[in-house]
Amino acid sequence: MEEKIRQLLSEVESFTATVKDDVESFRLKYLSKKGIIPSLFGEMKNVAADERKNFGQLVNDLKNKAEEKLNHFREMLEDSSEEKNIPDLTLPAEPHGLGARHPVSIVRERILEIFSHIGFTVEYGPEIEDDWHNFTALNFPENHPARDMQDTFFIKTGESSRDDIALRTHTSSVQVRVMERQQPPIRILAPGRVYRNEAISARAHCFFHQVEGLYVDEKVSFADLKQTLLYFAKEMFDADTKIRLRPSYFPFTEPSAEMDVSCNICGGKGCNVCKYTGWLEILGCGMVDPNVLENCKIDSKKYSGFAFGMGIERIAMLKYNVNDLRLFSENDVRFLKQFTSA
Ligand code: DAH
Repeated sequence: MEEKIRQLLSEVESFTATVKDDVESFRLKYLSKKGIIPSLFGEMKNVAADERKNFGQLVNDLKNKAEEKLNHFREMLEDSSEEKNIPDLTLPAEPHGLGARHPVSIVRERILEIFSHIGFTVEYGPEIEDDWHNFTALNFPENHPARDMQDTFFIKTGESSRDDIALRTHTSSVQVRVMERQQPPIRILAPGRVYRNEAISARAHCFFHQVEGLYVDEKVSFADLKQTLLYFAKEMFDADTKIRLRPSYFPFTEPSAEMDVSCNICGGKGCNVCKYTGWLEILGCGMVDPNVLENCKIDSKKYSGFAFGMGIERIAMLKYNVNDLRLFSENDVRFLKQFTSA
């Protein structure tokens, strides 16, 4: 009997399985209710009393070994069946669309880069502004229409002492913030988002982006402004680009001008983009009004400066021939994926 059990033990020890069915047959043969091991336990009562202990131990050993084998092969074949679920690696991969940079970011970065070559650094200001920085310090008369509810989003602060808080209507507010904390020489660009209470259409939006420029030092002249802007236009569009300055009015500059560039679509011959004028308006500019310098505690007898401000979407529309301002904020991938930063 003992000999038989030892033989079963070596059989169990040498058992291997390659498929799940082998494991199940093994279980049925040794461990199921009518299997060999339970029936050996059943024979216990026929074993002589002085051999029963030894017999019991041997059968227990056999049972433990058989269970060990069963678990081992169950686990192993379970794992390998999971491996069979690994997808077919030879199939072609799902296409992953490569992201593109937003055209407003591309144009903004290009503007900052062009001006960085002539010593302009970058400054930022808050989008929530007070009346002083957005209007008063910039020489806006008390009853100027731009302060009207029509154009400005005012913010209720709940503090009766601060009913002058609004979303900035232009990045010119950053001029004031920089000049208040820094004496000339100042040579900065201020990019950022601005807000206007306007009906949304192909040509107007309630928010858009601007880049502001400011240069203040001793003896800064209108000729410096003109030359700086000509350099910018040639870099931004192409080397043949021409500029023209038309007299204009802004409260914070005197004299003020608007700058046109020669139409890069028709080369100045006239087309529907430039409305057959050959020119496209791209920015406002001028010599910083001495009142603005004084409001920021800069000596207007010693220092002079120029400033300019441009809409980023406006330039992107001209550069990429986009005819609807709304496209820039709708995030339609069919529009966005057409732009690369190269
Ligand atoms: N802040 C003006 C606007 O939003 C643009 C502008 C015009 C900025 C002339 C300037 C400037 O710095 O000198 O329409």
